[in-house]
Amino acid sequence: MNYQIDKIVNQIERLPTRNHVAFEVIQLCADPNSTVNQLKSIISSDQVLTSQILRIANSSYFNYPRTIHSIERAIVILGFNLIRDIAISIAIYSFYKGFRKSSVFDLRYVWRHALLSGIIGRTLGKKYDPENQSLFYVGCLLHDIGKLVESRTMNEDFDFLLEKSHQEGLRLDVVEKKFLNFHHGQVGGKLLEKWNLPEELVQMAIHHHDPSRIPSTARHGHAIRVAYLSNILAHYIQDGMKGLEAILQYDANFTRHFRFNEEEFQELITTVQEVVEENQVYFDILQV
Ligand SMILES: [Fe+2]
Ligand SMILES: [Fe+2]
Repeated sequence: MNYQIDKIVNQIERLPTRNHVAFEVIQLCADPNSTVNQLKSIISSDQVLTSQILRIANSSYFNYPRTIHSIERAIVILGFNLIRDIAISIAIYSFYKGFRKSSVFDLRYVWRHALLSGIIGRTLGKKYDPENQSLFYVGCLLHDIGKLVESRTMNEDFDFLLEKSHQEGLRLDVVEKKFLNFHHGQVGGKLLEKWNLPEELVQMAIHHHDPSRIPSTARHGHAIRVAYLSNILAHYIQDGMKGLEAILQYDANFTRHFRFNEEEFQELITTVQEVVEENQVYFDILQV
């Protein structure tokens, strides 16, 4: 197959205006000093996003006794972090919905995987690096976005790669490297770079399948390790894997990157499963 990363990324046409708001929200998420007022003014500049957030704030899920009419009020009641993460999820969801499905490329599965990874990334951030929880949420939400680019630009060739990966029981990035000489992480990284998103998000996408290429002292090493671990834990939950052994089948290098013993690993899985259940609202709101 003869594809080049730059060429396929350039084929993704300019994004609709509405998504500029999404990018501003993403940038805000990457900045630990962002404020309620900044978030409010960005969301308010987008009618559709505003009405979707108000609809969610007024949904029976939150069971608030009075009608919430303004974004400011929604932020106060539901909390800055929840509104910010919901805003970004809605924005990215609208981007996902525009992409092609095929019998092999299951967009719903991919979107659920993105949300699960995001929630897990934020949980890991809460535990190990609280300042960067939102950055990790967004980085993990976006880590596989390169698959969308490939699906749209390579069409049947991408389906062929997916089928190969299913048939041979190999991860997609392994098959991609064999046939394309690059993988979806690099494609996603290039897209996020083109969108002028923060470097951590670019690096998380590029290296989410292999954190070993980054020296542990590297500036973005931490964020990359979060992306790597979140992706694996999301698969663990979504694909019904059982035990450390199942993870080693997915990635034989896992215990080289993270030195968990079986007990520590089970503890982590329990925490993550609890958090996923607590965050069911994301899956309800975003219909997955
Ligand atoms: Fe991936
Ligand atoms: Fe992934």
